[in-house]
Amino acid sequence: MKFEKDTREKNILQAPRGMRDILPSESVALSKVRDTCREVARIFDYREIVTPIVEDIGVFARTVGDDSDLVQKEMYTFDDRGGEQLALRPENTAGVCRAYIEHGMKSLPQPVRLWYFGSFFRYDRPQAGRYRQLTQFGIEAIGSEDPSLDAEVISLQSKLYKSLGLNDIRLGINSIGTQSSRSNFLLALGGYLRKFEAELSEDSQRRLKTNPMRIIDSKDLTDQEIIKDAPKILDFLSEGDEAHFHRVTRDLDSLGISYDIDHSIVRGLDYYTHTVWEFEPIGASGQSTLGGGGRYDGLIEELGGPSTPGVGFATGIERILINLLDKGIIDQQVIPPDVFFIALGSEGHHTAVKLAMELRDHGISVKAGGGGRSMKSLMRAANNSGAFVAVVIGDEEVTEQSAAIRILRDSADSDRNLKVPQEDLVTAIRDIQSQSVVDA
Ligand code: HAM
Repeated sequence: MKFEKDTREKNILQAPRGMRDILPSESVALSKVRDTCREVARIFDYREIVTPIVEDIGVFARTVGDDSDLVQKEMYTFDDRGGEQLALRPENTAGVCRAYIEHGMKSLPQPVRLWYFGSFFRYDRPQAGRYRQLTQFGIEAIGSEDPSLDAEVISLQSKLYKSLGLNDIRLGINSIGTQSSRSNFLLALGGYLRKFEAELSEDSQRRLKTNPMRIIDSKDLTDQEIIKDAPKILDFLSEGDEAHFHRVTRDLDSLGISYDIDHSIVRGLDYYTHTVWEFEPIGASGQSTLGGGGRYDGLIEELGGPSTPGVGFATGIERILINLLDKGIIDQQVIPPDVFFIALGSEGHHTAVKLAMELRDHGISVKAGGGGRSMKSLMRAANNSGAFVAVVIGDEEVTEQSAAIRILRDSADSDRNLKVPQEDLVTAIRDIQSQSVVDA
């Protein structure tokens, strides 16, 4: 059997390369970030959409671009047992648009405002901030070409980072216009780049033939030097494209959102039109882009749907967490229980089980101390648990139908040990809890 062979050859199995376990110490921070995403989506009146983690390969090949790195090199693809060619989703704009068409969302009041939070898969070279399984929070606003929707989506993204306490971030914004403005630009760009063909990186030499736009955001230093003096797409925009971009930046000005016009932002996915942008921490290096997005007015048609404009962004949750932890905005922590229960003897155990459940029924979190240990070791465990009280049930308490309470965390209550009737335990714990909140 294959499993037996695997374990014999390699005793300790590990998570796949580039994929991480999120342990309890990190999952509290992750929950906080997820709650903030959900809350920001709520105040902008966006609705959650959950799409499958796998899609037909065509969903991405047709839209993200047959020649893009994402499709060419990074997609996890497989044929299922029925011969369907599927891909683990590398991103969600195409999947959400597929769902928009499939469910006839065009008949709903437009634009349809959607958000998602989930796992994505890219066969990328793993490094800090770059994983093969990544988490994104994203927004798609579909069905309006109004530039104020671009600004709304950008303002939602900006609000998210501010709400998380990430203030030192920079927004870079550009417009890549429509297909027709772009074809003139591509002619000029191709002409300029061909003069430097021999000096370009290997990847860029290949892209010069397939998609010269991609050379603009090359990370190669020589490429970047060459690009500095290349024609700029903003100089090739039609009047209509320019007006669209101007209205987006005017809205951002009114909203007090500062931005840099950045010619190097063209984004790596084929579906973009008009406005494109990226947020990154100020002074960052390496895998730093926190999130990016743009308009994609041709994508739905590309998928076989009716001509429908759209705009959205996605932000990498792991990169947000790295920034929050680095800056000390969020700590790695585990939420302690409210109460640690110590049961002594079999009768004590019987009573403690019932009382602990009663506390839980009232929303108080209870950790049960393991049986068969000494009082001393259970008290040590209670102190280490972070609970604010320990409740002890031994033979004496069983006979008296009482519960002994030991206050563990600081409180104004000078009497650190007290006994209450078992029927008053919930009220007593609540009183101590509210007292310690007042003291804190
Ligand atoms: P993207 O720029 O490919 O855009 O990804 C968005 C964000 O996901 C990145 O800025 C980064 O924070 C995070 N990310 C991407 N790849 C990785 C990785 N390998 N490891 C960790 N984090 C990563 C999109 O996905 C578009 N669908 C965004 C969009 C939505 N455009 C319009 N609507």
